[in-house]
Amino acid sequence: MGYVIGVDLGTSAVKVLLVSQAGQVVDEVTKAYPLYHDQPGYSEQDPEDWVKQTKAALRELTVRVNDPQAIQGLSFSGQMHGLVLLGADYRPLRRAILWNDTRTTEECREIEANVGLNRMYAITKNPALEGFTLPKLLWVKKHEPDIFNQASLFLLPKDYVRYRLAGDLSMDYSDAAGTLLLDVANKAWSTEMCEKNGIPFELCPALVGSDQMTGTILAEVAAETGLTTDCKVFAGGADNACGAIGAGILTDGLTLSSTGTSGVVLSYEAKGNKDFQGQVHYFNHGDPSAFYTMGVTLAAGYSLSWFKETFAKEISFDQLIDEARSSTVGAKGMVFTPYIVGERTPHPDSSIRASFIGAHASHTRGDFARAVIEGITFSLNESVEIFREKGKKVDRVVAIGGGAKSDLWLQIQADIFNTEVVTLANEQGPGMGAAILAAVGSGWYQSLKECAAAFVKHAKTYYPNSENVKKYRQLFALYQQVYHVTKQLNHDLVSFR
Ligand code: XUL
Repeated sequence: MGYVIGVDLGTSAVKVLLVSQAGQVVDEVTKAYPLYHDQPGYSEQDPEDWVKQTKAALRELTVRVNDPQAIQGLSFSGQMHGLVLLGADYRPLRRAILWNDTRTTEECREIEANVGLNRMYAITKNPALEGFTLPKLLWVKKHEPDIFNQASLFLLPKDYVRYRLAGDLSMDYSDAAGTLLLDVANKAWSTEMCEKNGIPFELCPALVGSDQMTGTILAEVAAETGLTTDCKVFAGGADNACGAIGAGILTDGLTLSSTGTSGVVLSYEAKGNKDFQGQVHYFNHGDPSAFYTMGVTLAAGYSLSWFKETFAKEISFDQLIDEARSSTVGAKGMVFTPYIVGERTPHPDSSIRASFIGAHASHTRGDFARAVIEGITFSLNESVEIFREKGKKVDRVVAIGGGAKSDLWLQIQADIFNTEVVTLANEQGPGMGAAILAAVGSGWYQSLKECAAAFVKHAKTYYPNSENVKKYRQLFALYQQVYHVTKQLNHDLVSFR
């Protein structure tokens, strides 16, 4: 029996999955690491923590496998956009600046001015957002010039961990697409984006395909982790690309809704020459010939966990969901916007904040919880609606993440999206996508599609209830007004934060 390992390098933890040739998750280990928020808006991690915890997780996994020789391949899914700046000796020059760090608003405006909006959309297919990598490079250049001047290369989080395990310095297309330096349709670094923004082209690493082999496990890493030096290492992909692969989003017409800390609605695109004018993200897929469009809700699961931590600490998540169940469609006349850390799609605005509109004396905690779940789903629906406006058919959504663990939330998704919503039999998120990349790279299957067909099974389908669909359509129109009505108020409140 052969195995592959999917390493999912997330924001709060690394999760490693041991997957059999039949697609069964045989074992898994999760190891957490800290986040550093030294100033408001800052979000950093120490790359050494990723390496240490990934090795520790691999060690724990291999001691439980009878035959580590049977682990033939390993690949990665990584949190996107995080800047890992390396010096001449390829050691990190500072902590990594992460995707959810919002210090770079000024740099985003500078990029737009340097390149011009239309040119930027034509090349990168994406808007300039605080989370992306180029604004972070410009921030370091401006605020930490001594560090920037020592830089010889930048990598993204999973690429740095792969470098430490297998010794190669490269980046895959699906992750490179989130840097704002890639010519997405032509799959090459953009000299124009580099030149116009004053970034030396040499800082960009070699580009590789997600299922491309980039090396084997280094001897010292083999000694530390229990893997063998025969274990092949494949490039891997961005967490959202791997989430898509792991959920079988590998043909036109399939859409994914993923509710982790952030929420994502993602749709497969066979062609790379569409222009969404930055309204949604447009990235290279892990499937080498394909792309995907994606809208992001910055605080999806995070809005609900914030609500629970703040107002319902003493009860379990299930009890909170039960309370929400006892409310009604529209939370008895209350709407929530999930902007607790700003928003991305369709409002790239780091200073907007959340609102509960319509709260009255008879509202209970359950009504508030229901409003939170509905508000998160309305935010995801903004992306679904953009896809539809651009002519995409969205009638079947595969749901993963926290929002796929509750019947109530799944039905709310079906009713708000007005689509069938399907769950997966053995949902493993992006780690399964990474394992599929390793399985295909190892030659077990001819294509990602063939492998996903064997590994990914649908479980339950939720159908939209026409009465609820009608009510939610009206509520969604009200939800959409809240951003515009509260924008100025929130901007005026910034100085009081
Ligand atoms: C995508 C994004 C997040 C991170 C989370 O653009 O910023 O989904 O990838 O890891």
